[in-house]
Amino acid sequence: MSTILKVEALRVAIGALTPLSSVSFSLEKGETLGLVGESGSGKSLTAMAIMGLLPLIGGRITGGSVVFDGSDLTALPEPAYRKLRGGRIGLITQNPMTSLDPLKKVGSQIDVVARLHLGLDKSAARNRTVELLGELRIPEPASIYHLYPHQLSGGMKQRIVIAMALAADPDLLIADEPTTALDVTVQAQIIRLLSDLIRDRGLSMVLITHDMSVVAQACDKVVVMYAGTAVEYGTVAAIFDDPRHPYTKALIGCIPRGLAGAQRLKGIEGTVPSVAHYPQGCRFHPRCPRAEAICAAVSPPFIASRDGAAACHFAGAVG
Ligand SMILES: Nc1ncnc2c1ncn2[C@@H]1O[C@H](COP(=O)(O)OP(=O)(O)O)[C@@H](O)[C@H]1O
Ligand SMILES: [Mg+2]
Repeated sequence: MSTILKVEALRVAIGALTPLSSVSFSLEKGETLGLVGESGSGKSLTAMAIMGLLPLIGGRITGGSVVFDGSDLTALPEPAYRKLRGGRIGLITQNPMTSLDPLKKVGSQIDVVARLHLGLDKSAARNRTVELLGELRIPEPASIYHLYPHQLSGGMKQRIVIAMALAADPDLLIADEPTTALDVTVQAQIIRLLSDLIRDRGLSMVLITHDMSVVAQACDKVVVMYAGTAVEYGTVAAIFDDPRHPYTKALIGCIPRGLAGAQRLKGIEGTVPSVAHYPQGCRFHPRCPRAEAICAAVSPPFIASRDGAAACHFAGAVG
């Protein structure tokens, strides 16, 4: 297997703050990697850093590297980045309305991407778009082509956004909470659709979610993030079988079990600190059931586990 994306010791600053640090992972061709954590964990900043979008929010990469298919993107000039975005790297965001123009027919919005990045003429782009809509299991693609975003359901709109992200035939998809705005049954359909596309097209994907059940359903590997840093990574099989970080255990504990509706979705007690209030030592220690004095004082190193590692002082301990 060859590596399509390698992020190493990534560090991001916004003004005088450092909201993101020590994020490392590698993604092989054909794999899906999950970035998981509660809101405020640093998932979107990681995605923006990879996509070269930090300048939009006054941010910048201040350390580490982002290597895509062998070349470091951290020094890539904006014109080259513009080709890469929507070209070899497709982005799917949480809210379809930030990606879709309400005043244009959805089909023509997909055409534009293929024309720009693949140099197709008008009719070739149109044929390709209709084909793509069919591939996304959109019924009657030739008529959907002519509709405006407001004429479509949330799930359909998100399929259009996925079609836009695929239009230039990318190698890598970055999906930032692609189903968070949708209702539960539609969420599961969209995740299944994405997984099938990745498999059939041999694509790679970074799938961002706050939901461990999405990781279980769709990912090969996972990086668990908390308060702007990675706390555990590994294969999905190993992480679910034997989570080593108390935060990972807590996230897995949030997955509802049993009969639908029999148990309400649980959350983790407390909230993620904001960047101005990241604690000393282990950032999770104020919420951690296992915390001891060392946790408040010393930032834990990564301790290797089966097929991964966890940044917890007790990650090597039994239980
Ligand atoms: N534009 C910004 N300015 C200042 N801080 C920000 C900005 N965007 C994100 N942050 C901070 O960075 C941290 C991580 O945010 P984010 O990457 O959006 O988390 P997630 O996507 O996991 O919810 C949070 O503490 C957030 O407040
Ligand atoms: Mg986010």
